[in-house]
Amino acid sequence: MRDHALLHYDQTLFRDREIFEFGYTPERLHHRDAQTTELAWLVRPALEGAAAGNAILRGPPGTGKTTTVRRLFAEIEDATNRIIPVFINCQQHRTQFSVFARIFEAVVGHAPPSAGKHVDEIVRQMAGRLEERDAALLVCLDDANYLHDARQLNDLLYRILRLYETRDVRRPGVFVVTSDRCLDINAAVDERVRSVFHPIEVNFPAYTKPEILEILGDRVRQGLFPGVMPPSSLDLAAGITADEQDIRVGIDLIRRAVETVERTGRRRVTRKDVMEVSRSIIAPALQKRVEALPEAERGLLLRIAEMALEDADMTSGSVYEELRGYIAACPTVYRARLKHLEEERLIDLPLSPGRGRARDVLLRYPPRDVIECCERPQKPR
Ligand SMILES: Nc1ncnc2c1ncn2[C@@H]1O[C@H](COP(=O)(O)OP(=O)(O)O)[C@@H](O)[C@H]1O
Ligand SMILES: [Mg+2]
Repeated sequence: MRDHALLHYDQTLFRDREIFEFGYTPERLHHRDAQTTELAWLVRPALEGAAAGNAILRGPPGTGKTTTVRRLFAEIEDATNRIIPVFINCQQHRTQFSVFARIFEAVVGHAPPSAGKHVDEIVRQMAGRLEERDAALLVCLDDANYLHDARQLNDLLYRILRLYETRDVRRPGVFVVTSDRCLDINAAVDERVRSVFHPIEVNFPAYTKPEILEILGDRVRQGLFPGVMPPSSLDLAAGITADEQDIRVGIDLIRRAVETVERTGRRRVTRKDVMEVSRSIIAPALQKRVEALPEAERGLLLRIAEMALEDADMTSGSVYEELRGYIAACPTVYRARLKHLEEERLIDLPLSPGRGRARDVLLRYPPRDVIECCERPQKPR
Protein backbone atom coordinates (compact mmCIF):
# COMPACT_ATOMS: atom_id res chain seq x y z
CA MET A 1 0.00 0.00 0.00
CA ARG A 2 1.32 3.47 -0.85
CA ASP A 3 2.07 5.53 2.20
CA HIS A 4 -0.01 8.57 1.36
CA ALA A 5 -3.17 6.61 0.75
CA LEU A 6 -3.51 6.45 4.53
CA LEU A 7 -3.49 10.16 4.98
CA HIS A 8 -6.24 12.62 4.18
CA TYR A 9 -5.35 16.23 3.49
CA ASP A 10 -6.76 17.44 6.75
CA GLN A 11 -4.97 14.84 8.78
CA THR A 12 -2.05 15.96 10.84
CA LEU A 13 0.93 14.10 12.22
CA PHE A 14 1.08 16.39 15.23
CA ARG A 15 -0.80 15.37 18.32
CA ASP A 16 0.09 18.78 19.79
CA ARG A 17 1.99 21.33 17.73
CA GLU A 18 2.66 23.60 20.70
CA ILE A 19 5.13 21.06 22.10
CA PHE A 20 7.57 22.10 19.38
CA GLU A 21 7.31 25.85 19.90
CA PHE A 22 10.20 27.71 21.47
CA GLY A 23 8.20 29.20 24.29
CA TYR A 24 6.86 25.82 25.42
CA THR A 25 7.78 24.82 28.95
CA PRO A 26 8.30 21.06 29.17
CA GLU A 27 6.50 19.03 31.83
CA ARG A 28 9.73 17.27 32.71
CA LEU A 29 13.08 18.97 32.82
CA HIS A 30 15.66 16.24 32.40
CA HIS A 31 19.16 16.36 33.84
CA ARG A 32 18.87 19.71 35.54
CA ASP A 33 18.18 18.54 39.10
CA ALA A 34 21.65 19.50 40.32
CA GLN A 35 21.37 23.04 38.99
CA THR A 36 17.81 23.43 40.29
CA THR A 37 18.85 22.23 43.74
CA GLU A 38 21.78 24.63 43.92
CA LEU A 39 19.59 27.57 42.99
CA ALA A 40 16.89 26.49 45.44
CA TRP A 41 19.48 26.46 48.23
CA LEU A 42 20.33 30.05 47.46
CA VAL A 43 16.69 31.06 47.65
CA ARG A 44 15.86 29.19 50.84
CA PRO A 45 17.19 31.79 53.33
CA ALA A 46 14.78 34.32 51.84
CA LEU A 47 11.89 32.12 52.90
CA GLU A 48 13.06 32.49 56.46
CA GLY A 49 13.41 36.24 56.39
CA ALA A 50 17.08 36.47 55.41
CA ALA A 51 18.64 37.45 52.08
CA ALA A 52 18.77 35.24 49.01
CA GLY A 53 22.18 34.45 47.52
CA ASN A 54 23.55 35.44 44.14
CA ALA A 55 24.51 33.25 41.21
CA ILE A 56 25.99 33.30 37.76
CA LEU A 57 24.40 30.74 35.47
CA ARG A 58 26.66 29.85 32.64
CA GLY A 59 26.40 27.54 29.63
CA PRO A 60 26.04 27.50 25.86
CA PRO A 61 22.69 28.37 24.25
CA GLY A 62 20.03 25.67 24.51
CA THR A 63 21.19 24.06 27.74
CA GLY A 64 18.07 24.78 29.78
CA LYS A 65 19.16 27.88 31.70
CA THR A 66 16.06 29.92 31.00
CA THR A 67 13.74 26.98 31.55
CA THR A 68 15.36 26.07 34.87
CA VAL A 69 14.99 29.59 36.25
CA ARG A 70 11.46 30.02 34.96
CA ARG A 71 10.34 26.80 36.60
CA LEU A 72 11.97 27.71 39.89
CA PHE A 73 10.40 31.18 39.82
CA ALA A 74 6.97 29.71 39.08
CA GLU A 75 7.36 27.39 42.06
CA ILE A 76 8.36 30.29 44.31
CA GLU A 77 5.35 32.29 43.18
CA ASP A 78 3.04 29.42 44.04
CA ALA A 79 4.66 28.77 47.39
CA THR A 80 5.17 32.15 49.04
CA ASN A 81 4.55 35.89 49.15
CA ARG A 82 7.77 36.49 51.00
CA ILE A 83 9.85 36.36 47.85
CA ILE A 84 9.17 38.39 44.71
CA PRO A 85 10.87 36.75 41.75
CA VAL A 86 11.34 38.95 38.70
CA PHE A 87 12.44 37.39 35.46
CA ILE A 88 13.99 39.81 32.97
CA ASN A 89 14.82 39.00 29.38
CA CYS A 90 17.75 41.33 28.76
CA GLN A 91 17.53 40.92 25.04
CA GLN A 92 14.27 42.85 25.34
CA HIS A 93 15.19 45.06 28.30
CA ARG A 94 18.55 46.71 27.88
CA THR A 95 18.20 50.00 29.73
CA GLN A 96 18.11 50.82 33.43
CA PHE A 97 14.65 52.24 32.96
CA SER A 98 13.16 49.26 31.24
CA VAL A 99 14.68 46.76 33.71
CA PHE A 100 13.50 48.73 36.71
CA ALA A 101 10.09 49.16 35.13
CA ARG A 102 9.80 45.34 35.12
CA ILE A 103 10.89 45.15 38.74
CA PHE A 104 8.48 47.94 39.67
CA GLU A 105 5.64 46.10 38.01
CA ALA A 106 6.37 42.89 39.90
CA VAL A 107 6.65 44.65 43.26
CA VAL A 108 3.91 47.27 42.94
CA GLY A 109 1.46 45.33 40.79
CA HIS A 110 1.18 47.69 37.84
CA ALA A 111 3.50 49.30 35.32
CA PRO A 112 5.13 52.58 36.37
CA PRO A 113 3.79 55.77 34.82
CA SER A 114 5.93 56.05 31.72
CA ALA A 115 5.92 59.75 31.01
CA GLY A 116 8.68 61.93 32.38
CA LYS A 117 9.77 59.67 35.22
CA HIS A 118 13.43 59.36 36.04
CA VAL A 119 14.75 55.92 36.82
CA ASP A 120 15.70 57.09 40.34
CA GLU A 121 12.08 57.90 41.00
CA ILE A 122 10.96 54.46 39.82
CA VAL A 123 13.56 52.83 42.05
CA ARG A 124 12.55 54.97 45.03
CA GLN A 125 8.86 54.16 44.74
CA MET A 126 9.55 50.49 44.15
CA ALA A 127 11.85 50.25 47.17
CA GLY A 128 9.23 51.92 49.34
CA ARG A 129 6.63 49.37 48.36
CA LEU A 130 9.12 46.55 48.85
CA GLU A 131 9.72 47.76 52.39
CA GLU A 132 5.98 47.77 53.10
CA ARG A 133 5.56 44.29 51.72
CA ASP A 134 8.53 43.01 53.73
CA ALA A 135 9.39 40.67 50.89
CA ALA A 136 12.74 39.67 49.41
CA LEU A 137 13.46 40.64 45.84
CA LEU A 138 14.94 37.99 43.55
CA VAL A 139 15.94 39.21 40.11
CA CYS A 140 17.03 37.07 37.17
CA LEU A 141 18.88 38.92 34.42
CA ASP A 142 18.54 36.40 31.62
CA ASP A 143 20.99 36.72 28.72
CA ALA A 144 22.77 39.44 30.69
CA ASN A 145 25.50 39.63 28.06
CA TYR A 146 23.17 41.99 26.18
CA LEU A 147 23.19 44.36 29.15
CA HIS A 148 26.95 44.12 29.25
CA ASP A 149 27.19 44.96 25.54
CA ALA A 150 24.93 47.96 26.15
CA ARG A 151 27.26 48.98 29.03
CA GLN A 152 24.44 48.77 31.54
CA LEU A 153 25.29 45.66 33.52
CA ASN A 154 27.61 47.18 36.10
CA ASP A 155 25.40 50.12 37.04
CA LEU A 156 22.32 47.99 37.08
CA LEU A 157 23.83 45.41 39.40
CA TYR A 158 25.03 48.24 41.60
CA ARG A 159 21.55 49.73 41.87
CA ILE A 160 19.84 46.42 42.55
CA LEU A 161 22.36 45.02 45.01
CA ARG A 162 22.63 48.19 47.04
CA LEU A 163 18.92 48.81 47.41
CA TYR A 164 19.13 47.78 51.03
CA GLU A 165 21.45 50.68 51.86
CA THR A 166 18.79 53.34 51.43
CA ARG A 167 15.76 51.42 52.62
CA ASP A 168 14.95 48.92 55.26
CA VAL A 169 14.67 46.10 52.75
CA ARG A 170 16.41 42.77 52.57
CA ARG A 171 19.40 42.38 50.34
CA PRO A 172 18.09 41.30 46.92
CA GLY A 173 19.31 38.12 45.29
CA VAL A 174 20.45 38.29 41.68
CA PHE A 175 20.85 35.52 39.12
CA VAL A 176 22.94 36.59 36.17
CA VAL A 177 22.54 34.27 33.18
CA THR A 178 24.93 34.24 30.25
CA SER A 179 25.53 32.11 27.17
CA ASP A 180 28.64 34.04 26.22
CA ARG A 181 31.62 32.04 27.36
CA CYS A 182 33.96 34.97 26.80
CA LEU A 183 32.14 37.18 29.27
CA ASP A 184 33.83 37.20 32.67
CA ILE A 185 31.24 38.83 34.90
CA ASN A 186 33.59 39.35 37.79
CA ALA A 187 35.97 41.24 35.56
CA ALA A 188 33.10 43.16 33.97
CA VAL A 189 31.96 44.77 37.24
CA ASP A 190 33.76 47.28 39.38
CA GLU A 191 34.81 47.12 43.00
CA ARG A 192 31.61 48.69 44.34
CA VAL A 193 29.64 45.83 42.84
CA ARG A 194 32.17 43.13 43.60
CA SER A 195 32.12 43.94 47.28
CA VAL A 196 28.43 42.98 47.54
CA PHE A 197 28.08 40.50 44.70
CA HIS A 198 29.48 37.13 45.72
CA PRO A 199 27.89 34.77 43.26
CA ILE A 200 28.22 31.03 43.13
CA GLU A 201 28.72 29.67 39.63
CA VAL A 202 26.14 27.24 38.33
CA ASN A 203 27.19 25.50 35.15
CA PHE A 204 24.91 24.21 32.44
CA PRO A 205 26.99 21.86 30.29
CA ALA A 206 25.84 20.95 26.80
CA TYR A 207 23.67 17.82 26.83
CA THR A 208 25.21 14.53 25.77
CA LYS A 209 23.64 12.50 23.02
CA PRO A 210 21.83 10.07 25.38
CA GLU A 211 20.43 13.07 27.30
CA ILE A 212 19.32 14.65 24.04
CA LEU A 213 17.63 11.41 23.01
CA GLU A 214 15.65 11.44 26.22
CA ILE A 215 14.63 15.09 25.91
CA LEU A 216 13.66 14.83 22.25
CA GLY A 217 12.02 11.45 22.88
CA ASP A 218 9.68 13.11 25.38
CA ARG A 219 8.67 15.75 22.87
CA VAL A 220 8.09 13.16 20.18
CA ARG A 221 5.87 11.06 22.45
CA GLN A 222 3.82 14.05 23.53
CA GLY A 223 3.72 16.01 20.32
CA LEU A 224 3.48 13.43 17.52
CA PHE A 225 1.33 10.44 16.72
CA PRO A 226 2.98 7.03 17.23
CA GLY A 227 5.28 5.90 14.42
CA VAL A 228 5.73 9.34 12.85
CA MET A 229 9.30 9.64 14.09
CA PRO A 230 10.88 6.16 13.97
CA PRO A 231 13.82 5.45 16.33
CA SER A 232 16.47 5.57 13.60
CA SER A 233 15.34 9.03 12.47
CA LEU A 234 15.19 10.24 16.06
CA ASP A 235 18.66 8.88 16.66
CA LEU A 236 20.03 10.78 13.68
CA ALA A 237 18.33 13.99 14.83
CA ALA A 238 19.84 13.51 18.31
CA GLY A 239 23.31 13.03 16.79
CA ILE A 240 23.04 16.22 14.77
CA THR A 241 21.78 18.06 17.84
CA ALA A 242 24.69 16.77 19.92
CA ASP A 243 27.12 18.06 17.29
CA GLU A 244 25.48 21.47 17.40
CA GLN A 245 25.31 21.39 21.23
CA ASP A 246 21.98 23.19 21.17
CA ILE A 247 18.80 21.34 22.04
CA ARG A 248 16.81 23.93 20.08
CA VAL A 249 18.35 22.59 16.88
CA GLY A 250 16.81 19.18 17.61
CA ILE A 251 13.36 20.50 18.46
CA ASP A 252 13.33 22.67 15.37
CA LEU A 253 14.69 19.87 13.22
CA ILE A 254 11.95 17.45 14.22
CA ARG A 255 9.21 20.02 13.76
CA ARG A 256 10.39 20.97 10.30
CA ALA A 257 10.97 17.38 9.21
CA VAL A 258 7.45 16.42 10.26
CA GLU A 259 6.01 19.44 8.47
CA THR A 260 7.83 18.45 5.29
CA VAL A 261 6.56 14.91 5.51
CA GLU A 262 3.05 16.16 6.20
CA ARG A 263 3.12 18.39 3.14
CA THR A 264 4.07 15.54 0.88
CA GLY A 265 1.26 13.37 2.24
CA ARG A 266 3.50 10.80 3.89
CA ARG A 267 3.32 9.83 7.53
CA ARG A 268 6.78 8.78 8.55
CA VAL A 269 9.97 10.80 8.87
CA THR A 270 12.91 9.06 7.18
CA ARG A 271 16.60 9.61 7.88
CA LYS A 272 16.82 11.32 4.51
CA ASP A 273 14.14 13.82 5.60
CA VAL A 274 16.15 14.59 8.73
CA MET A 275 19.35 15.07 6.75
CA GLU A 276 17.73 17.36 4.24
CA VAL A 277 16.07 19.55 6.83
CA SER A 278 19.21 19.70 8.95
CA ARG A 279 21.06 21.37 6.11
CA SER A 280 18.62 24.27 6.12
CA ILE A 281 18.96 24.67 9.89
CA ILE A 282 22.69 24.30 10.21
CA ALA A 283 23.78 26.41 7.24
CA PRO A 284 22.33 29.71 8.57
CA ALA A 285 23.68 28.96 12.05
CA LEU A 286 27.14 28.31 10.62
CA GLN A 287 26.97 31.48 8.54
CA LYS A 288 26.18 33.55 11.62
CA ARG A 289 29.09 32.14 13.59
CA VAL A 290 31.52 32.68 10.73
CA GLU A 291 30.31 36.24 10.30
CA ALA A 292 30.93 36.96 13.96
CA LEU A 293 34.63 36.01 13.71
CA PRO A 294 37.36 38.63 13.62
CA GLU A 295 38.67 39.00 10.07
CA ALA A 296 42.04 37.35 10.71
CA GLU A 297 40.36 34.24 12.10
CA ARG A 298 37.86 34.08 9.29
CA GLY A 299 40.78 34.23 6.86
CA LEU A 300 42.55 31.42 8.69
CA LEU A 301 39.40 29.31 8.69
CA LEU A 302 39.03 29.81 4.94
CA ARG A 303 42.62 28.65 4.29
CA ILE A 304 42.13 25.64 6.55
CA ALA A 305 38.99 24.71 4.62
CA GLU A 306 40.85 25.04 1.32
CA MET A 307 43.64 22.80 2.61
CA ALA A 308 41.12 20.24 3.86
CA LEU A 309 39.49 20.20 0.45
CA GLU A 310 42.85 19.35 -1.12
CA ASP A 311 43.40 16.55 1.41
CA ALA A 312 46.56 18.25 2.67
CA ASP A 313 48.45 17.15 5.78
CA MET A 314 46.41 18.73 8.54
CA THR A 315 48.67 18.64 11.58
CA SER A 316 48.85 21.99 13.24
CA GLY A 317 52.55 22.39 12.35
CA SER A 318 52.03 21.59 8.66
CA VAL A 319 49.13 23.99 8.47
CA TYR A 320 51.30 26.69 9.99
CA GLU A 321 54.16 26.03 7.56
CA GLU A 322 51.79 26.09 4.62
CA LEU A 323 50.03 29.29 5.68
CA ARG A 324 52.77 31.24 7.44
CA GLY A 325 53.25 33.61 4.51
CA TYR A 326 49.56 34.25 4.45
CA ILE A 327 48.77 34.58 8.14
CA ALA A 328 51.77 36.75 8.96
CA ALA A 329 51.60 35.90 12.64
CA CYS A 330 53.96 34.21 15.09
CA PRO A 331 53.16 30.66 16.29
CA THR A 332 51.67 31.96 19.54
CA VAL A 333 49.14 34.15 17.75
CA TYR A 334 48.43 31.33 15.31
CA ARG A 335 47.73 28.94 18.20
CA ALA A 336 45.50 31.51 19.89
CA ARG A 337 43.47 31.86 16.69
CA LEU A 338 43.13 28.10 16.37
CA LYS A 339 42.01 27.91 19.98
CA HIS A 340 39.33 30.49 19.35
CA LEU A 341 38.10 28.65 16.26
CA GLU A 342 37.90 25.56 18.46
CA GLU A 343 35.97 27.43 21.15
CA GLU A 344 33.57 28.62 18.48
CA ARG A 345 33.20 24.95 17.61
CA LEU A 346 34.21 25.44 14.00
CA ILE A 347 37.22 23.13 14.25
CA ASP A 348 38.44 20.30 16.49
CA LEU A 349 42.04 20.03 17.65
CA PRO A 350 42.55 16.38 18.65
CA LEU A 351 46.01 14.95 19.33
CA SER A 352 47.45 13.65 16.09
CA PRO A 353 47.64 9.83 16.30
CA GLY A 354 51.22 8.63 16.71
CA ARG A 355 52.76 12.09 16.57
CA GLY A 356 53.39 12.89 20.21
CA ARG A 357 51.94 16.23 21.22
CA ALA A 358 51.14 17.39 17.70
CA ARG A 359 47.53 18.24 17.00
CA ASP A 360 45.38 17.85 13.94
CA VAL A 361 43.28 20.71 12.65
CA LEU A 362 39.92 19.22 11.71
CA LEU A 363 36.92 21.10 10.39
CA ARG A 364 33.58 20.32 12.00
CA TYR A 365 31.70 21.10 8.79
CA PRO A 366 32.12 20.13 5.14
CA PRO A 367 34.95 22.27 3.69
CA ARG A 368 32.79 23.51 0.82
CA ASP A 369 30.13 24.83 3.23
CA VAL A 370 32.78 26.61 5.29
CA ILE A 371 34.39 28.17 2.22
CA GLU A 372 31.03 29.39 1.05
CA CYS A 373 30.30 31.01 4.42
CA CYS A 374 33.74 32.66 4.56
CA GLU A 375 33.49 34.05 1.06
CA ARG A 376 29.95 35.32 1.19
CA PRO A 377 29.95 39.14 1.39
CA GLN A 378 29.96 40.10 5.05
CA LYS A 379 27.03 42.03 6.39
CA PRO A 380 27.98 45.43 7.75
CA ARG A 381 28.15 45.22 11.53
N1 LIG B 1 16.50 19.37 30.25
C1 LIG B 1 15.53 19.66 29.41
N2 LIG B 1 14.43 18.88 29.30
C2 LIG B 1 13.44 19.21 28.44
N3 LIG B 1 13.46 20.29 27.63
C3 LIG B 1 14.54 21.10 27.69
C4 LIG B 1 15.62 20.82 28.58
N4 LIG B 1 16.56 21.79 28.43
C5 LIG B 1 16.10 22.63 27.49
N5 LIG B 1 14.89 22.22 27.04
C6 LIG B 1 14.11 22.89 26.01
O1 LIG B 1 15.00 23.44 25.06
C7 LIG B 1 14.67 24.77 24.72
C8 LIG B 1 15.81 25.70 25.07
O2 LIG B 1 15.97 25.76 26.49
P1 LIG B 1 16.34 27.11 27.25
O3 LIG B 1 16.01 26.93 28.69
O4 LIG B 1 15.68 28.26 26.57
O5 LIG B 1 17.91 27.14 27.04
P2 LIG B 1 18.95 28.33 27.33
O6 LIG B 1 18.26 29.36 28.16
O7 LIG B 1 20.09 27.66 28.04
O8 LIG B 1 19.37 28.85 25.98
C9 LIG B 1 13.38 25.08 25.42
O9 LIG B 1 12.32 24.86 24.54
C10 LIG B 1 13.34 24.08 26.56
O10 LIG B 1 12.01 23.75 26.85
MG1 LIG C 1 17.98 31.34 27.60
